[in-house]
Amino acid sequence: MKPARVLITAGPTYEPIDAVRFIGNRSSGRMGSAIADAAAGRSLDVTLLLGPGAIEPANTAVRVIRFRTCADLQALLRTHAPRADALIMAAAVADYRPKPNPLMSGGKFRRTDKPLTLELEPTPDLLSEVAASRRQDQLFVGFALEPRADLLESAQRKLTKKKVDIVVANPLETMDADTVEATLLFRDGRRLETSGKLSKQAFAGWLLDVIVPMMPAAKEQAAAARTC
Ligand code: CTP
Repeated sequence: MKPARVLITAGPTYEPIDAVRFIGNRSSGRMGSAIADAAAGRSLDVTLLLGPGAIEPANTAVRVIRFRTCADLQALLRTHAPRADALIMAAAVADYRPKPNPLMSGGKFRRTDKPLTLELEPTPDLLSEVAASRRQDQLFVGFALEPRADLLESAQRKLTKKKVDIVVANPLETMDADTVEATLLFRDGRRLETSGKLSKQAFAGWLLDVIVPMMPAAKEQAAAARTC
């Protein structure tokens, strides 16, 4: 029996301004990498779509594919998401990117004495896009990085808007930090909280303990392993 397939995204996107400059964010990709490591450790078939600068997972069984921009990740998701049994979308995707500008298209933009205005355009919401054409037997997990004051309210809005099964709500300080505090929000209204701060490795195991039993393909894999 083929192992259940888990697709994970992690790390930042870098949106180019010109040939050498970009707009990025502080995501380290460590949370997604830790989840990929832990999932491969449970004999799942793991593909990690990993952003620029993010560190690769230790487990060599994880298939790592690099992306740089939101557009790269969009193309990869369109290919890989339909084959996945679960998608865990931990990447910190840019919400805006520089609008194509002829001034910036000639390599490195040269400085002048004049002020410069960068025009940004919104990026597509990748998770909403892939969730819109998902199969019923797929499990989709999104992340929400929010100020503590409206953590659960905003995460609840994302759960509904993006049509995913679970949203992992993290306070803003989680980005680029060593530890994680999280609340999981489920479609049926259930909520589950970590008991205080966990290392990213411990959090990965905790999250998989919740997710794997919800994946029909992983349940079949576990049942087949028991009968062998
Ligand atoms: N996400 C995505 N595509 C984007 C932005 C975000 O797929 N262009 C995904 C993230 O990977 C994450 C979830 O959507 O799983 C929530 O991301 P977040 O940045 O918290 O939410 P936004 O949709 O950007 O909303 P807001 O700007 O209001 O926080």
